[in-house]
Amino acid sequence: MMSSMNAALLTPGEYADAVATAVRAAAAYYGDGTTPLGDDEYDALVRAVEAYEQEHPDEVLPDSPTGKVAAGAVVGDVPHSVPMLSLDNVFSAEELAQWAAGLDRRLGRPVAAWCVEPKLDGLAVAARYRAGRLRQVLTRGDGLAGEDISHAADAVLGLPAALAEPVDVELRGEVLLTHEQFEQANRIRTEHGAEPFAHPRSGAAGTLRAKDRPYRIELTFFAYGAVGLDDDLTHSALLERLAAIGANTAATTAAHPLRCATIEEVQQCIEEIVALRAALPFGIDGVVVKADAAVDQRDAGSGSRAPRWAVARKLAAEHKVTRLLDVEWNVGRTGIIAPRAVLEPVVIDGVTVTYATLHNPADITRRDLMINDQVFVYRAGDVIPRVEAPLTDQRTGDERPIVFPEVCPRCGDAIDTTEQRWRCARGRGCQAVASVIYAAGRDQLDIEGLGGTRAVQLVESGLVADIADLFALTREQLLGLERMGATSTDNLLAALETARSRPLGRVFCALGVRGTGRTMSRRIAAHFGSMAAVRAADADTLAQVAGIGPEKARLVVAELAELAPLLDKLAAHGVGTAVTEPEAPAVAASAGDAEPAPAGGPLAGEAVVVTGSMTGPLAALSRGEVNDLVERAGGKSSSSVSKRTTLLVAGEKAGSKRAKAEELGIRILTPEEFAALVADHLPEG
Ligand code: IVH
Repeated sequence: MMSSMNAALLTPGEYADAVATAVRAAAAYYGDGTTPLGDDEYDALVRAVEAYEQEHPDEVLPDSPTGKVAAGAVVGDVPHSVPMLSLDNVFSAEELAQWAAGLDRRLGRPVAAWCVEPKLDGLAVAARYRAGRLRQVLTRGDGLAGEDISHAADAVLGLPAALAEPVDVELRGEVLLTHEQFEQANRIRTEHGAEPFAHPRSGAAGTLRAKDRPYRIELTFFAYGAVGLDDDLTHSALLERLAAIGANTAATTAAHPLRCATIEEVQQCIEEIVALRAALPFGIDGVVVKADAAVDQRDAGSGSRAPRWAVARKLAAEHKVTRLLDVEWNVGRTGIIAPRAVLEPVVIDGVTVTYATLHNPADITRRDLMINDQVFVYRAGDVIPRVEAPLTDQRTGDERPIVFPEVCPRCGDAIDTTEQRWRCARGRGCQAVASVIYAAGRDQLDIEGLGGTRAVQLVESGLVADIADLFALTREQLLGLERMGATSTDNLLAALETARSRPLGRVFCALGVRGTGRTMSRRIAAHFGSMAAVRAADADTLAQVAGIGPEKARLVVAELAELAPLLDKLAAHGVGTAVTEPEAPAVAASAGDAEPAPAGGPLAGEAVVVTGSMTGPLAALSRGEVNDLVERAGGKSSSSVSKRTTLLVAGEKAGSKRAKAEELGIRILTPEEFAALVADHLPEG
């Protein structure tokens, strides 16, 4: 792997190979945006080449990518008004500090102020406006001349045909596919029988160049510079001016540019942007640090490749190339048969990834994946890694088709393939053990002593085929099982007796209805008051429950119909038969997930998000239990921070949710402060 290559140790032969590989990769990258290397590997390769050239300045090969804009890969035919430069990179806080000290030395004074902004992972373009009208759009090309891509302008959001003022200006910025646009693009492409894009940047590059496509793919432009506006503006004032004349800038995103006085502050701002990374709606591959004052920029000047007043602090790539070794088919609790990619282990942003999701069989077919393919894998923040697409031009002939199962890989029964997600014909019945373990869980029936081993034993002995059977177990049957003494038996029977009278919300949750977890189950229970009323509800009635949209309502109705025999059995055992007064119907759910706030309680009217690991009085609680606590105290719990959030409980390693809450000015409490606030509602013991 290139990333483990020691830059100082290249031999002359390795140097020549490295130059050739980098030239090939750069040609692909700046050409149609494809690349056989991940970004991290490319950066490591170029650093190794640079290190060799520093040691052996007489041996620099003429086609070496170092010192050239776009690594010397492309040439356009429309000259730029002012060269479109690239950026030098730093890879650590120390390198950044050294770079900044070097700039101070060059200026003979400290840099007056800094501007810190996201490094957008797309393609640089120049958009020329005459009297406020868009006239021409150019790629960067080799920095001196670019390619005319004006034909693509219509599909680029943020690049208006007319600005708010009749100015002559050339906007400079990045065109990219947001995550949503990338997904959309791949849906459109596969519908048209075209290969999906493996990487948002290759998608953006391919789309900008393409002419005469029978479909339209939308892109987004962010401006970060301009030629022709007031030369004396600070960079931050320039960005404000750009927004004022109608260009889209990063100021419209959570990662808006930040002004800093010192390089220490810059490091903090970088951390802030990094913390937001996973939640941003587009990819960033670094953070750009710029001297803010025009006079500092002028005095520092530029080299042939990059300005001396700005630098990119590169971040580990979120996309990596690795090999698809195999596809496993796992049967979930509800009988869904889900494919999972087994990968040659690859480190993405510090985490070794060995498995990635593959959605469903149709998706595999659409992506044209094969075993042994080189694939792009994407992982950001806590998101489950996913396989994007194969690098089809890297195929060697050793690839094999992915074999889809013909029968359920767990029980051998038939597969229901009528939906995109395949399912065992026996549905939940296929996974009795998983269903029992789930139902016995803390947030459901909370049956102490019924863990994985015991569940397997009960199912394999034939005593239990579904969760209702648990309540028919007799002392004699249990005593007849291996390793079941009198004490364990009596304890389990007592735990089952307690579980029999659990409130409706928990019983409903124990059913494992698709699309409903703990919170939704509780809402459904509160809304209807009895299992009979829930079962009698049609989709319209269910959709009155806050947070249930029409689609989920239909799914729940279908699931309940399927579960009818189980529900009858449970009722016969007296499970879930308690009746309470239903709550007043909530506001129509399609109005969002607003729920009538429970009256009173210290958290009345609060929308609370809990993140990070809990400490103090909350240390022993599961996330579900903390959320229960929020609701008992009159608040509404949710898992993601948004403008509606009013309170964040941030434990250790709170990460991006904390950064987002700070960004939005949301009140933040430590677990201890929060525990004090809701002290009256804490669980006993
Ligand atoms: S400033 C003279 N600012 O990164 C100034 N570039 O790796 C040069 N990029 O060529 C560019 N976000 O395509 C600048 N906020 C940002 C950027 C940015 C992304 C791209 C741009 C540049 C490349 C260098």
